Amino acid sequence: MTASPWTPESWRTKPIQQAPVYPDLAALADVERTLAGYPPLVFAGEARKLKRTLAKVAAGEAFLLQGGDCAESFAEHSADNIRDFFRVFLQMAVVLTFAAAMPVVKVGRIAGQFAKPRTNPTEKIGGVELPIYRGDIVNDTDFTEKARTPDPARQIEAYRQSAATLNLLRAFAWGGYANLENAHRWMLGFVKDSPQSGRYQELADRITQTLAFMRAIGLDPEEHQELSRTDFYTSHEALLLGFEQAMTRVDSTSGDYYATSGHMLWIGDRTRQFDHAHVEYCRGVKNPIGLKCGPSLKPDDLLRLVDALNPENEPGRMTLITRFGSEKIGDHLPALIRTVEREGRTVVWICDPMHGNTITANNYKTRPFERIMDEIRNFFLVHQAEGSYAGGVHLEMTGKNVTECTGGARAISEVELSDRYHTHCDPRLNAEQAIEVAFLVAELLKDERGRPARPAKAAE
Ligand code: PEP
Ligand code: CO
Repeated sequence: MTASPWTPESWRTKPIQQAPVYPDLAALADVERTLAGYPPLVFAGEARKLKRTLAKVAAGEAFLLQGGDCAESFAEHSADNIRDFFRVFLQMAVVLTFAAAMPVVKVGRIAGQFAKPRTNPTEKIGGVELPIYRGDIVNDTDFTEKARTPDPARQIEAYRQSAATLNLLRAFAWGGYANLENAHRWMLGFVKDSPQSGRYQELADRITQTLAFMRAIGLDPEEHQELSRTDFYTSHEALLLGFEQAMTRVDSTSGDYYATSGHMLWIGDRTRQFDHAHVEYCRGVKNPIGLKCGPSLKPDDLLRLVDALNPENEPGRMTLITRFGSEKIGDHLPALIRTVEREGRTVVWICDPMHGNTITANNYKTRPFERIMDEIRNFFLVHQAEGSYAGGVHLEMTGKNVTECTGGARAISEVELSDRYHTHCDPRLNAEQAIEVAFLVAELLKDERGRPARPAKAAE
């Protein structure tokens, strides 16, 4: 497969999973042409910078925090939601940076995370069968024929929302909001009296003291951009390939193709067939690429995928996002690590503790906090045993006080799920639970950092 020439549309000649059926193909082609004329959302240079930073994660010198909504929605597009998410994300990153004393790479599932893979193509309610909801970029959640029919115009709206979201994120990241001097102010109203607030206040106090100390010895924090701004990157699942193709551009500096819909793209667990369309599209763009690895992925197939997607073994190009479930990770992860590391492939390993731990309780799709933490703990344990580096976490989370995952310090019960269950797709950690995860991961990371360095790899 890799020998055949790649073009932004070569995926169209391959079998494809999870593709919506658009009734009006002329309208779809029109939208794709329009999108192809729109400005890129991100620059190739930014994607390259992220790749260099991820190469540091691969080398065990940084930690990757990736997270955000399962699916962004048009209805919940507001400045408050973006700010609340960004604020919690910054708090988590500070907790992790302090614990590990190393850089935390910040990548949101945001500004483009609209398309969803689904188990069934249709849904039946009361004898009526309609297309399944595939994310706001494709159709609407309402159970009517009109709402469920894939509508290409929604791709233009997704582009607009992504551009507006990214604009605000860039302003927050570079315009002063992310200044470490604000660490105290990042406390959300409801997190203030949360079980984690004391711990977080303590940490924010230490940062304030550190900044005061710097000033006292004559270092001016204002002169150090690292303290006043942060690099924040965007990512989403590369699922709707017509949209991705329309957003693909040649970078004038390098002559290479980049996906400009987001800095990092990932391939989902349902669309990672070696000779199919999604792998074909992703192999040709130079962005950092994630690959979801679930229980059905065999070590040899993983190796083939890694080689197709990263034939030059470029550090920072491949992030393997493992998502087995708390009880299965021990059976699956060691063999994948052994194969990839034995063959000398340089990858970033991160843990998605969400998608293998979904259950139904009280008629709601939920994820027990303890299972999420169990998978993360096991992820660190397996990497410790294999001598590889547990490089990050991939979370579904929100800045809002939702009740979608059970457990956590406030012990959200199955009955309480109905209080504020707002997700359009999978259950997310709320702001408190997300910060709680960050504190627990910080402990694991501190232990990992405290262990003797692993033997250097010959290739490094
Ligand atoms: C997701 O990340 O929302 C998702 C669908 O994950 P996976 O491909 O791992 O099932
Ligand atoms: Co999800």
